Amino acid sequence: MSSTVKVGLLGCGIVGGATARILIDHAPDLSMRAGADLEIARIAVRSLTKEREVSLPAEKWTTDPWEVVNDPDIDVVVEAIGGIEPAKDLILAALKNKKHVVTANKELLSTLGKEVMDAAEEAGVDLLFEASVAGGIPIIRPMKESLAGDRVRRVMGLVNGTTNFILTRMSETGESFAESLAEAERLGYTEMDPSADIEGYDAAAKLAILASLAFNARVVASDVEREGISAVKASDIVAAHELGYEIKLLAVAEIDEGQVAARVHPSMVPKNHPLAAVRDVFNAVFVESQESGELMFYGRGAGGGPTGSAVVGDLVEVARNIVSGGRSAGCTCYHSRAKIRPHDETRVRYYVVLSVLDQPGVLSTVAGVFANHDVSIASVRQEGAGDEATLALITHPATEGQHGQTFSELAKLDSVKEITSRLRVEGTGEE
Ligand SMILES: NC(=O)c1ccc[n+]([C@@H]2O[C@H](COP(=O)([O-])OP(=O)(O)OC[C@H]3O[C@@H](n4cnc5c(N)ncnc54)[C@H](OP(=O)(O)O)[C@@H]3O)[C@@H](O)[C@H]2O)c1
Repeated sequence: MSSTVKVGLLGCGIVGGATARILIDHAPDLSMRAGADLEIARIAVRSLTKEREVSLPAEKWTTDPWEVVNDPDIDVVVEAIGGIEPAKDLILAALKNKKHVVTANKELLSTLGKEVMDAAEEAGVDLLFEASVAGGIPIIRPMKESLAGDRVRRVMGLVNGTTNFILTRMSETGESFAESLAEAERLGYTEMDPSADIEGYDAAAKLAILASLAFNARVVASDVEREGISAVKASDIVAAHELGYEIKLLAVAEIDEGQVAARVHPSMVPKNHPLAAVRDVFNAVFVESQESGELMFYGRGAGGGPTGSAVVGDLVEVARNIVSGGRSAGCTCYHSRAKIRPHDETRVRYYVVLSVLDQPGVLSTVAGVFANHDVSIASVRQEGAGDEATLALITHPATEGQHGQTFSELAKLDSVKEITSRLRVEGTGEE
């Protein structure tokens, strides 16, 4: 039995720095919880002169991450560098050297997850990744373990804090997208290039991981249909409020007849749905399962403390396994590839706004186009102003294909000047 578990850290930025701080500050508690001391043995960074959150003896620092993964004394490696390279090669080398690995790297797991999970399996070591989705919210372990007795049918997440901040701000101040984005930038909530958040790539990576766990079948980031929030207008939010909805960037994964549909897009969510109340930079994951019904996991999706707490939780689990000679659940993708439902066959509801000529018969012409494609209309609102009128419709569920054909035909009508908005409607219980 080992009484000290030696930890090698790759990276000491937001996640790595907080992990190191928690390991030092909470050491007595962690030691009791793990049944072994967790000692930071080595720590790799790019710069040795940057100011750090923790102070450790000079000989523990290195600029060569290979020294960490090849150090025979190290039991577990924390990868907190991010990105694909060199993170992937470092993780594979650590696993080959029979070291357990804890990572927060959603980008790697959502693209090359199978390769790293297989390598962990082959080496017989743990590869844990609680911090990779929704930061401090415990969601990986609940999906993998606590819900192993259930059948998850749908997962809906607000898994990107930056876009939730922007949409909350638009909703509460009436600002435009550009103004709210500028405020997010001013507060330091955005990356140097905000497109990974704004265009939904970050949420798509997290959804791929969640869907893989939910349905025990591998979903990769490129399986996720993706649409960002830059086209959401202040007027959409006003209209959503009038109808009793909020607009959120929802990540939705669902399974139906063995086929998985995974998508990230701005959605209208009824104000009485728990996800509509998730404000600011907070994240939440709403799970619908056969036996437990509805569950919601809520908290901070980013930042040093929350993410470091998730990483250290994984380290405690690894240390307990080392002490007991056990192993955590490995890869739970029993189907190495999920059957992905073609996008056109996914069933959704839409809110659509048309700018039309204010003439007799326009409403029936428009309704006829919906009927031509078997899309049934749940509600219509008409507002007139001079020669032009606005029609705002909400549909009942129909496929993306049916909706797409309807929108194309509407766009060709002389009486329809423009389709000014289209947003999916989620969380109404009608999906
Ligand atoms: N930030 C969050 O809230 C959050 C939340 C969930 C998940 N994550 C994930 O956690 C990971 C790390 O994110 P982060 O925000 O902590 O990043 P970060 O603040 O940019 O830190 C990255 C760290 O890696 C080090 N590094 C980069 N390349 C290296 C190399 N080749 N060799 C050695 N060290 C290297 C950097 O060294 P220097 O300090 O010397 O530059 C830095 O300490 C990413 O996968 C991210 O997606 C982050």
